[in-house]
Amino acid sequence: MSYLTIPEFQQHKKEGKKITVVTAYDALFTKIVEQAGLEVILVGDSLGMVVQGKPNTLSVTMDEMLYHTRMVAQVSQRALVIGDMPFLSYQVSVEEAVKNAGRFLQAGATAVKIEGGLSVVDRVEALTGFGIPVMGHLGMTPQSVNQSGGYKVRGKEQAEADTILQEAKTLEAAGVFGIVLECVPSELANTITQELAIPTIGIGGGQGCDGQVLVLYDILGLFDDFVPKFVKPYAHLKVDAVQALKRYKEEVECGKFPSDAESYQ
Ligand code: KIV
Repeated sequence: MSYLTIPEFQQHKKEGKKITVVTAYDALFTKIVEQAGLEVILVGDSLGMVVQGKPNTLSVTMDEMLYHTRMVAQVSQRALVIGDMPFLSYQVSVEEAVKNAGRFLQAGATAVKIEGGLSVVDRVEALTGFGIPVMGHLGMTPQSVNQSGGYKVRGKEQAEADTILQEAKTLEAAGVFGIVLECVPSELANTITQELAIPTIGIGGGQGCDGQVLVLYDILGLFDDFVPKFVKPYAHLKVDAVQALKRYKEEVECGKFPSDAESYQ
């Protein structure tokens, strides 16, 4: 079994094959994701919210991201693993960006993702120049939540839509191998998708994108603190987990568990 490569990822767009991306943060779920046949895993800094219980992604550190990237990469057998560069790991300088992106590759990732448009162009050029594949991320960028005033759809106004389109083209020219489009109107995502040769991966970007990405725990119905409009839960594992744990507690309390079957004679 071989790993999905960056050229293969890009070939999907040329062949009109949709790309399915999901986040994963540990070995157990990486195995489940790969067993389900998914080929691209993003170790997202969303782990700050869904794993660590923080209100946003801003406090996630490089060490934490590398810890989770290692867990995913060490059991992954075929997925393209993308490490999400956390806040302050690439903003400070090009040098910091190169050093930190390199640490993701040393942890087992094949590529990194960074948020932003014109402000990260020199980072993208430097990283790709050193052979580090970079995925872009435009539209609603969670690391800028304080500036944008919340998790809102971006590019509804024509001027902002034009800026996002221009930034997408600039990032492509700088060398990104794909771009995440988060919370943008479908019409804008369609235009960007048509105008770029590289794949667009939507999350709240509508059907027209070349692929989709969702947070794993949202797909599985495990995380319900905040369910954005773009999420479709394909299972309700939180409900199942609560039921299972209630039954366990009841059986311990009434003496039904453990029975002889779970005991050593
Ligand atoms: O951190 C993350 O999981 C992400 C995706 C949801 C795009 O950036």
